[in-house]
Amino acid sequence: MKNRSLISINDFSKEEQLKILDLAEEFEKQPTQKILEGYVAATLFFEPSTRTRLSFETAVNRLGGRIIGFSDTSSTSVQKGESLKDTIIMVSNYSDIIIMRHPKAGSARYASEVATVPIINAGDGANQHPTQCLLDMYSIRKTQGTLDNLDIAFVGDLKYGRTVHSLVMALTNFNCRFHLVSPQELKLPSVVKMHIKDKNLEYYQYTDLQEVLPIADVCYMTRIQKERFSDPIEYEKVKNAYILKNSMLKGSKDNLRILHPLPRVNEISEDIDDNPKAYYFQQALNGVYVRQALVTSILGVK
Ligand code: CP
Repeated sequence: MKNRSLISINDFSKEEQLKILDLAEEFEKQPTQKILEGYVAATLFFEPSTRTRLSFETAVNRLGGRIIGFSDTSSTSVQKGESLKDTIIMVSNYSDIIIMRHPKAGSARYASEVATVPIINAGDGANQHPTQCLLDMYSIRKTQGTLDNLDIAFVGDLKYGRTVHSLVMALTNFNCRFHLVSPQELKLPSVVKMHIKDKNLEYYQYTDLQEVLPIADVCYMTRIQKERFSDPIEYEKVKNAYILKNSMLKGSKDNLRILHPLPRVNEISEDIDDNPKAYYFQQALNGVYVRQALVTSILGVK
């Protein structure tokens, strides 16, 4: 993985993905080590973030590396009209690795083609979010003891949810069954369903969340992505499509865990937060260890 960019989850093989998860387990045991002294990581966030940016920055800081970058473009030369290409070429001069989030699908791949240092895609539009995928895999393996043969329910905005796209693609390597719950307007794109079909795996589509709760090992809730809708009226129609409440978990499997990439709006009621099946806050913490594993692997330090 040394010196390679991570743009789509499929850029890394199943074996490489598992290596990252194994290394993340080591970082979870010992997250503070000075092995990145002398390295500079750039976090370029052209789109808002709390978890992804701060967990990458925590990951690098705990390993003794330095961070440069921006969390919005208002104080950068993007405001003067500087192109993405020129921005990436410049930041390549200043850093050893670039972590970038951008609202346009395909922007991360483009950045990797003009950069002279590796690019990590921290989310490009509605396309991919491969580092979230790795921490989701880590969280599933940690809570279920395996990634194989699981019943995974994906709920909410499956059309625009980039975390869903990456995770579905990754889990096709593990013989999982996919239970896809969404409004008609927000179904999983055909291009992602093709990945399931190509592996001869099963997927089932639902509009009713209650149908999947008794069978799921993992219920992966997602936010309806308001910012991706071109018509606000269409968003209003679906914004309250699914609200998971504690009472709905009666009859669910003991091993069920509720995951969510976060932020949540209203799709998981706060009355679930104290239920041992709620795992979304620990899931976000796992992001630090997984991102430590990823950055050190790409920099060739581990
Ligand atoms: N899961 C995730 O990408 O969260 P942020 O948008 O806060 O980074």
